[in-house]
Amino acid sequence: MSPFKPLVFSGVQPTGNLHLGNYLGAIRKFVALQESHDCIYCVVDLHSLTATLVHDDLADQTRQITAAFLAAGINPKAHIVFNQSRVPLHAELAWIFNCVARIGWMNRMTQFKDKAGKDRENASLGLLAYPSLMAADILLYRATHVPVGDDQKQHLELTRDIAAKFNNDFSKRIRDLGLGVEMEMGEETVDGFFPLTEPLIEGPATRVMSLRDGTKKMSKSDPSDLSRINLTDDADAISKKIRKAKTDPEPLPGEVEGLALRPEAENLVGIYAALAETSRESVLSEFAGAQFSTFKPALADLAVEKLGPVASEMRRIMADRRYVDTVLKDGGERAGAIAETTMKSVRRIIGLIGD
Ligand code: AMP
Ligand code: TRP
Repeated sequence: MSPFKPLVFSGVQPTGNLHLGNYLGAIRKFVALQESHDCIYCVVDLHSLTATLVHDDLADQTRQITAAFLAAGINPKAHIVFNQSRVPLHAELAWIFNCVARIGWMNRMTQFKDKAGKDRENASLGLLAYPSLMAADILLYRATHVPVGDDQKQHLELTRDIAAKFNNDFSKRIRDLGLGVEMEMGEETVDGFFPLTEPLIEGPATRVMSLRDGTKKMSKSDPSDLSRINLTDDADAISKKIRKAKTDPEPLPGEVEGLALRPEAENLVGIYAALAETSRESVLSEFAGAQFSTFKPALADLAVEKLGPVASEMRRIMADRRYVDTVLKDGGERAGAIAETTMKSVRRIIGLIGD
């Protein structure tokens, strides 16, 4: 049991269209966690600068992600919804973490390697330091649980490494200042300041794959729009994309083991299970032996039924820009107050003179 007060934090970047992977892998979990936890959900606009510094539509994209959070059912009064840059302390803590993290740790990040490609020397320093800003997002609130898709697992391990190194490097000061929380670290009990955050990655849709290639992740940046279902797609677009989704010629198996080596079939069954809030096993027990000509229309109907209301609510909320901006401002003020408390302690621990 963590001695820290349970708190959920997660973030989504305002880049490109939100898709089914974001919805099933992340946003829908955000909604469910509100019942059991205090939650902070952040539109991480500073992170999106690592893709392109100049965004013509960054503000609109930020509002769109906010609208998706609200349309999916996140309650911004009971919890906190804000945009990252509104609380500049994210950048301050990220700087400190840049000095805690090692370049070797950053160089090992698969997302950095994928995004930087062959010409690493020419990647921005921000792209390399990205996971340190992500650790700051989480630890600024001393969050204990982070719901994300499978692709973020390595970044969350790094967040734990940063927290552990900070706790270790400053353990004496943390103890002397009485700012520590007793934590089990292996055999020892130490006084730590930051929790070792737990990732929440589970369920049938932690990694939704492209509809055109079952070995590639569904992604905002895929040039083919047929590869993904966007949260803003209408019923016709959803049905068309599912109809055109790549499959193999075999009927569906009766058991999950029968999906091995059939990535496209496995993906569509996983999507069905996640949308229906059930397991792959129960989907297969219903559709065992069915051809895709039967399964795809059933999946399309289910997707339209579940996503349609979110899309129309998103449009309704987007039309009221003032409301969206008020949510972000109010959330930013409440997030900022928590963040300031953490940073005051961090400055004292490090020895930076402040109030
Ligand atoms: P991003 O769009 O990269 O900011 O991702 C926002 C959230 O969606 C993160 O928690 C990701 O892990 C999650 N996510 C992104 N793509 C997928 C996918 N294809 N399947 C499942 N989760 C995803
Ligand atoms: N790196 C995450 C992504 O690309 C977004 C993110 C930034 C995040 N900060 C976070 C997710 C903090 C969880 C917690 O999807």
